[in-house]
Amino acid sequence: MSEHKEIRIGLIGCGFMGRSHSNAYNRLSNFFPDLKFKPVLKAVCSRSLEKVKAFAEQWDYENIETDWRSIVNRNDIDAIDICTPNDTHAEIAIAAAEASKMILCEKPLAHSIEEAEKMVEVIEKTGIKNTVWYNYRRIPAVTLAKNIIDSGKLGKIFHYRANFLQDWTMSPDLPQGGEGLWRLDIDAAGSGVTGDLLAHCIDTAMWLNGGIKDVSAVTETFIKERVHQSSGKMQKVGIDDACIFHCHFDNGSLGLFESTRYARGHKALYTFEINGEKASIKWDLHDMNRLEFFDHGDDSIVRGWRSILVTDADQPFMDKWWVPGLIIGYEHSFIHQLADFFTSLETGEACRPTFMDALQTQKVCSEVIESAKSRSWKNTNVDWN
Ligand SMILES: NC(=O)c1ccc[n+]([C@@H]2O[C@H](COP(=O)([O-])OP(=O)(O)OC[C@H]3O[C@@H](n4cnc5c(N)ncnc54)[C@H](O)[C@@H]3O)[C@@H](O)[C@H]2O)c1
Repeated sequence: MSEHKEIRIGLIGCGFMGRSHSNAYNRLSNFFPDLKFKPVLKAVCSRSLEKVKAFAEQWDYENIETDWRSIVNRNDIDAIDICTPNDTHAEIAIAAAEASKMILCEKPLAHSIEEAEKMVEVIEKTGIKNTVWYNYRRIPAVTLAKNIIDSGKLGKIFHYRANFLQDWTMSPDLPQGGEGLWRLDIDAAGSGVTGDLLAHCIDTAMWLNGGIKDVSAVTETFIKERVHQSSGKMQKVGIDDACIFHCHFDNGSLGLFESTRYARGHKALYTFEINGEKASIKWDLHDMNRLEFFDHGDDSIVRGWRSILVTDADQPFMDKWWVPGLIIGYEHSFIHQLADFFTSLETGEACRPTFMDALQTQKVCSEVIESAKSRSWKNTNVDWN
């Protein structure tokens, strides 16, 4: 019999993230066998009985629920994993915290800054374990970037720039509302590309380069009306289809961020670059196992951008996977975050980003939207450490 202590998971939402997280729970103990805790897929919840039944069978959940309240209040669940649209995060998380469940919550933390603040208040009061799935931090090349920056190799930082470009909403015939398409419905999503895509870029940026102090943004909604799937009627589109902002970081560097779902040819082009006095780093999600590094300290005759394939056992997380030279994928970032969450149960340390960290990202997103509306600079009041 296993010596592991079981953590009984209740997962809510059977869509894209429901699948990514379920894969992570199923793989965790195979690849991180030394963890003291082990996930058990106790129950899964979605509103459609037919769908949740099929999902439970496919991913090996012991049983099902169709109302999230039932899963949150079960005595045989230790941790709630929230994989539902943004407008549901706060209510579920607050109920889960009040029921003394650990919480793993998808990003963005909430639909609005007010909800995010309430969630943090409850989490702080109850002191329960929590993490928010800003999973890109745990792509090995991105974690390596963090280690290089923290070692001081870049020296003083001058610039940070990030893009997150897609092209899947360009058709005016695409409706808003419903599975996946809730992203186009302001009531469900809270914002458009800012909360959906730039939130990832902002989390990574603050993790790598410190707090964002103030922002100046422009947003655009290219298609003003779409049919809503629930009413069947044409309704105003309230989300930002594209957003560009610039900012000051607390460390004095300048930031430039762009996201859109109207960049024809780009599916998920998340890139970032950071320029320091001594060196620079670049990363591209489409070539996620590589980190580009330029070191001005190199001998001038061989100086140039190096392309580091991050697959060696002494590079972050890679000792858990294959042999050097063999790459891993998107799904591994979720397994890594889960491994860190389970490790945090052993050490008692926080598994970052926590709700408190994600609140800071939410503050930046919120001020980006406000800045675009008011056409003015906005302070973010981010408290980053
Ligand atoms: N970390 C990442 O990279 C990443 C990627 C995609 C999505 N997300 C986030 O994950 C969350 C879910 O996104 P998704 O792409 O999986 O969406 P999705 O539309 O694919 O799936 C959402 C699921 O939630 C279910 N659901 C909706 N309301 C519910 C309710 N009240 N009770 C129970 N189930 C309910 C839906 O039936 C569906 O199964 C969002 O907050 C999104 O921002 C994060």
